[in-house]
Amino acid sequence: MIRKIHAFLALILLSFISNPLSAETVTINIKDFLFDPGSKTINLGDSVKWVNQDSFAHTSTSDTNLWDSKNLSSGASFTRLFDKAGKFTYHCHIHPDMTGTIIVRTAEQARIKLGKDIITANPKQLPIKLNLAGKNTDQVYLGSYIVNAQGACADCHSCPTYAEGHDPYKGEPKQFNTAGYLSGGRAFGPFTSANITPDSTGKPAGITLAQFKNLLRTGHDPHAPENILQVMPWPIYGMMSDHDLDAVYTYLKSIPPLPTPAANCN
Ligand code: HEC
Repeated sequence: MIRKIHAFLALILLSFISNPLSAETVTINIKDFLFDPGSKTINLGDSVKWVNQDSFAHTSTSDTNLWDSKNLSSGASFTRLFDKAGKFTYHCHIHPDMTGTIIVRTAEQARIKLGKDIITANPKQLPIKLNLAGKNTDQVYLGSYIVNAQGACADCHSCPTYAEGHDPYKGEPKQFNTAGYLSGGRAFGPFTSANITPDSTGKPAGITLAQFKNLLRTGHDPHAPENILQVMPWPIYGMMSDHDLDAVYTYLKSIPPLPTPAANCN
């Protein structure tokens, strides 16, 4: 019974936590002859709902004839889905001085924002400080998205993956193990995952970008070129574009350098 109640409470809690990936409906209030907020940035696939809170009729009318709410009386609303990236300006047909802008992120811009949020959003799930000096931050954050939200690199290259008391598999609030974030030491039979944090010269796992790409595309590690890596899912990662692999490498260059753990864990 208690377990059932816990499961039920967890479900209620989950329904309050908005998933950053789910398409959202963003509200813009029409009030005191203003669109509020006047400029709003949303993700591709999000919708905008204009709600007229004035006692006068207004419209939301695209400057380029993409949409027209027609007259919205007091309390009425109008919703539109934005499925194209770009900047969209609009006005009120009745009061042309009332203007607003919707900016729709490209899918790539949304990935960069999510990759940044993984590290900077509250509550912090990955409280590390990135070394951004001399780096293209968009590339770093795109790499964060690929490494953390897609590549699952920390599943094998951090030991353990999650901090004590923060293991989502135990129903605890998720936080990565920052003390061992990507510093390796996890045993897979005779193989051990490598430390892929930057070395003293700033190179992740001590390898150059060209070596890194070659490793992910051929399974040949420059430290032991005669072998083919047996555990690393390189046949999968190797299908990524140069653009994405560059981002992964740049992200790994920016994470905190850590020593390789003295003992392996499973
Ligand atoms: C299924 C577990 C697993 C996952 C997931 C994984 N790795 Fe690995 N990786 C390993 C193991 C184990 C090794 C050591 C070589 C071997 O035995 O395959 C390794 C080796 C490496 C090396 C070579 C390091 C060196 O010192 O030569 C790099 C670079 C690397 N991984 C990067 C990554 C990146 C980046 C990701 C995520 C995109 C990733 N790995 C995800 C298990 C994994």
